[in-house]
Amino acid sequence: MLEDKEIYKGLAGVPADYTAISKVDPESNSLLYRGYPVPELAASMAFEAVAYLLWYGELPDQRQLAAFEARERAQRRLDPAVKRVIDDLPLSAHPMDVVRTAVSVIGALDPDAADSSVESNLSKSISLLAKLPAVVAYEQRRRRHLELVEPRDDLGYCANFLFTTFGEVPSDVVLNAFDVSMILYAEHSFNASTFTARVVTSTLADLYSAVVAGIGALKGPLHGGANEAVMHMFEEVGTADKADAWLQQALDDKRKIMGFGHRVYKNGDSRVPTMKRALDTLIVEYDRPDIARLYDALHEKMRSRKTIEPNLDYPSGPAYHLIGFDTEMFTPLFVASRMAGWTAHIMEQLASNSLIRPLSVYNGVQERHLAH
Ligand code: COA
Repeated sequence: MLEDKEIYKGLAGVPADYTAISKVDPESNSLLYRGYPVPELAASMAFEAVAYLLWYGELPDQRQLAAFEARERAQRRLDPAVKRVIDDLPLSAHPMDVVRTAVSVIGALDPDAADSSVESNLSKSISLLAKLPAVVAYEQRRRRHLELVEPRDDLGYCANFLFTTFGEVPSDVVLNAFDVSMILYAEHSFNASTFTARVVTSTLADLYSAVVAGIGALKGPLHGGANEAVMHMFEEVGTADKADAWLQQALDDKRKIMGFGHRVYKNGDSRVPTMKRALDTLIVEYDRPDIARLYDALHEKMRSRKTIEPNLDYPSGPAYHLIGFDTEMFTPLFVASRMAGWTAHIMEQLASNSLIRPLSVYNGVQERHLAH
């Protein structure tokens, strides 16, 4: 009987399929991409090499990386039709809505959108990865009433990302912190947005449809939207000396404290130490010890009250703020990075597809009939 079956609310603890892309291990508090510990990758690789690893399963050798970079750099520019659609959107639209719309337009303009062969999906993935910085930079500059900055093909992915956004080549410290954040956000097994993308793919809809759905899922504050919410929280609290009283009140009001807690990790998020170190370098670079004090004060208070540890969004929110992005642009940065993971999962799903369609147990009114 279906009615007797146990419900796993939120699918918590339910393995839905195999994946060879990443391993999230809450026991050892570790994260592997294709077998490599992510802190090792973040210490010595650039984001584009990690995207290659996620898609192809192996790190590129020098020749492969050069060919891959050439392919990515050649596709950084936006079609004028994409810019026109963005221009027509009101500035009141959330940047996540702009990014979602832009990806939808990019898909509608692609004559090969319906071709789901491995080669075509790889091409689309590289193209989307290459274009996302242009979309994010375009939107960030539009919100500041600044002219578009054309991409520079002599710069790596993250350097170009920051160059097109801010109009100047970043310092090594800023570039490294940003690159680390992009690597850490790139992939995390069956999180809500990745699973959403896999559900859409399982119907044999095209890659763009799956990515657009993933962007929708990522927007929520329980998922990607949390990095933005962390910064709003920092602004609301103000200074470290107010953290104690603020947190007390927020917990008494049963508010969720953004940037804390995780569905899978229960003893802390494996990515936080790496991102925290990157944040610390930015705090020194921009001489903002006040941010470090607020970060520590909220963390300590939360630890003593709830024993709930920070997740990646806690250090990445203030890091993106220091780099200079508007708070509303933080989750679109997550989109650019997670594009690598989503598309890897879309290809993995297609390689061994089964329509994702769970059951539900009906608990509405019993069968009844219209009165005649
Ligand atoms: N602030 C306050 N309490 C929290 C909390 C947070 N950030 N995260 C979890 N809790 C509490 C819940 O209120 C619940 O308490 P209860 O048992 O007394 O009701 C308990 O911890 C279990 O939380 P639950 O929401 O059931 O866990 P989950 O696995 O469903 O939630 C998240 C995971 C991520 C949705 C949750 O931790 C959260 O909302 N975090 C804030 C948003 C965030 O940072 N998201 C990014 C995730 S990477």
